[in-house]
Amino acid sequence: MNANEAKDRIAKLTEQVNYHNHLYYQESRTEISDFEFDQLLNELIEMEEKFPQFKAPDSPSQRVGGTVTKEFATVKHEYPMLSLGNTYSQQELQEFDQRVAKGLGHNDYEYFCELKFDGVAISLVYENGYLIRAVTRGDGTKGDDITNNAKTIRTLPLSVKKDGIPTKFEVRGEVFMPREVFVAINKERVENGEEPLANPRNTASGTLKMQDSSIVASRKLDCFTYSLMGEGTGFSRHGDAIAALEKWGFNVSDTYKKCNDIEEVFKYIDEWEEKRKSLPLDTDGIVIKVNRFDQQEELGFTAKSPRWAIAYKYKSESAVTNLNNITYQVGRTGAITPVAELQPVLLAGTTVKRASLHNANEIKRLDLHVGDTVMVEKGGEIIPKITGVDKSGRKADAEPVSFIDKCPACETELIRADGEAVHYCPNNQSCPPQILGRLEHFISRNAMNIESLGPETLKGLINHNLVSQPADLYKLSFDQLNGLKFEIENPQTGEVKTRSLKEKSAQNILDSIEKSKEIPFPNVLFALGIRYVGRTVAEKLAMHFKNVEALARANFETLVEVPEIGDRIAESITQYFSEENNLNIIEELKTHGVQLAMREEDLPAAGGGALDGFSFVISGVFEQYERDELKAIIKKNGGKVVSAISGNVDYLVAGDKMGPAKLEKAKKLGVKIIDESTFTSML
Ligand code: IVH
Repeated sequence: MNANEAKDRIAKLTEQVNYHNHLYYQESRTEISDFEFDQLLNELIEMEEKFPQFKAPDSPSQRVGGTVTKEFATVKHEYPMLSLGNTYSQQELQEFDQRVAKGLGHNDYEYFCELKFDGVAISLVYENGYLIRAVTRGDGTKGDDITNNAKTIRTLPLSVKKDGIPTKFEVRGEVFMPREVFVAINKERVENGEEPLANPRNTASGTLKMQDSSIVASRKLDCFTYSLMGEGTGFSRHGDAIAALEKWGFNVSDTYKKCNDIEEVFKYIDEWEEKRKSLPLDTDGIVIKVNRFDQQEELGFTAKSPRWAIAYKYKSESAVTNLNNITYQVGRTGAITPVAELQPVLLAGTTVKRASLHNANEIKRLDLHVGDTVMVEKGGEIIPKITGVDKSGRKADAEPVSFIDKCPACETELIRADGEAVHYCPNNQSCPPQILGRLEHFISRNAMNIESLGPETLKGLINHNLVSQPADLYKLSFDQLNGLKFEIENPQTGEVKTRSLKEKSAQNILDSIEKSKEIPFPNVLFALGIRYVGRTVAEKLAMHFKNVEALARANFETLVEVPEIGDRIAESITQYFSEENNLNIIEELKTHGVQLAMREEDLPAAGGGALDGFSFVISGVFEQYERDELKAIIKKNGGKVVSAISGNVDYLVAGDKMGPAKLEKAKKLGVKIIDESTFTSML
């Protein structure tokens, strides 16, 4: 292919990829299969590699990320990014309206109302039609240059090619993580034994500042734009600028409305109070802007914010009720969580009986007394929280809540390490909720996967003193299980029913316990429930130490030498193996045949393996192999299996139905893509 042909082909491919991206992301429909799309994109990436002179600055190949920024450059904003004055009261909104009328000297003005999106403000600078810079708000005067990360946001145009667009302009908007994406990320984190992320806003903010833009790409951020600025944009109203942004391909939330007077603004506020909850992101109010730019200019700014705009914040839904009591829950690691027991109260459509209090510091901060009148709020989080106390009705002799000093379940003296907020019950061997929590974790899907044993039956087994630690499960007999009586509580009504285990269920439980002896060592290590040892850490430790004895022997120094094992994890591991009880459990598990070492076939070959030193990503489904089988073959032949594509990966073994993003990224980073028969031939 000569240069001219290449240029045409690249242009054609770019157009096609853009077209299908637009259909997919803006119109939520498709005309071609993922496979066909991948082929187009791959060809584009390949052609751009061969003919870099034709790679357009707005090529859709940039959406996949791949750049790594060690430190973001600081950039000064051309126009400062100000904040907005805000209010919770309609009275103050009336006063804002009066100030506007007074400032202009007449009543001939209109408002433009938008929702106030709860995300991260961003400034996007376009020159000659191309997005050249994306900058965070920072301190309002200067922010971080996060252009490469912003380019992975699919709904942000990398270029605007329309007649009459200004040579240079700036668009502002709010980057956010759709609630759905946030929930999915947290679900995965919890399954991995990691702390869940606090809320979509902070997650979006953290994601935008990640160093590796390909991770940013995988996090599916989105952006609503709400402002256009620059010399000679030629619009006289904000509403016209918004319409232009929409026409130019920017993502504008269609929730805005032009309002002729403040009364119409009040209607808009009422209209969106409930409706906003069905939007894909959190919103915390509305923004009211004087529509005409000349009037905006006339009204001007105070030191911090414009006089022509204001934010009206919805009160987060709150209720007033009585604090009846404080109870304490014990987690599987012994962590104690205080819970506020409330006089049941209706809040945002549900009856609230309890609120989480996190730890002793929170109780102190709120200065809680039992019997207090408290304010409860439902924020972005699911569990309501106490936000304030009305002390006016407090009786003179009311006592402040003092945190318990003994475990509510086993009466053991609690401990609280220096500088830590959380109290722990140190009686991990015989404290009932810890025993139950640990066993629940042991049998869970990503651990030993003993699926036929449900939580109620497990409680039954504990109550009958048949199990108190993981190894006990392997001693259960059919006779012990068959006919076993256990109780099921309906969480809504509190009603308790007695059930007894049928023959078939008893056998199923025994079968799945037996089957768990095949679960590989990394999962077993995770199942032990050592604090801070999630699935990934367990896998790293298992591959490094190869068996539990070597891990148990490792001291703090040896542990922190393992890549990605930090002080906190190392300390927790040495603590775990210093307890005789834990060593006994492990010994027992071993005698029952649980895998406490890497199997020969899962270990990398001792040099000379056909795949020595190569790392692989597996994606899609295969005809010849099961995925786990493929992983085992790679490891056995000296190769390494990793889950995410990066520049360090050598091969992507691509099966059927693999995700387009992975393929896209592999191409971009020059990872060789092979099918299963090529893989087989490498062995
Ligand atoms: S206009 C002079 N419109 O709210 C400021 N801001 O407190 C003009 N925000 O930093 C901002 N939704 O991050 C505007 N529809 C909207 C908005 C919005 C959310 C955020 C933005 C800004 C903050 C101001």
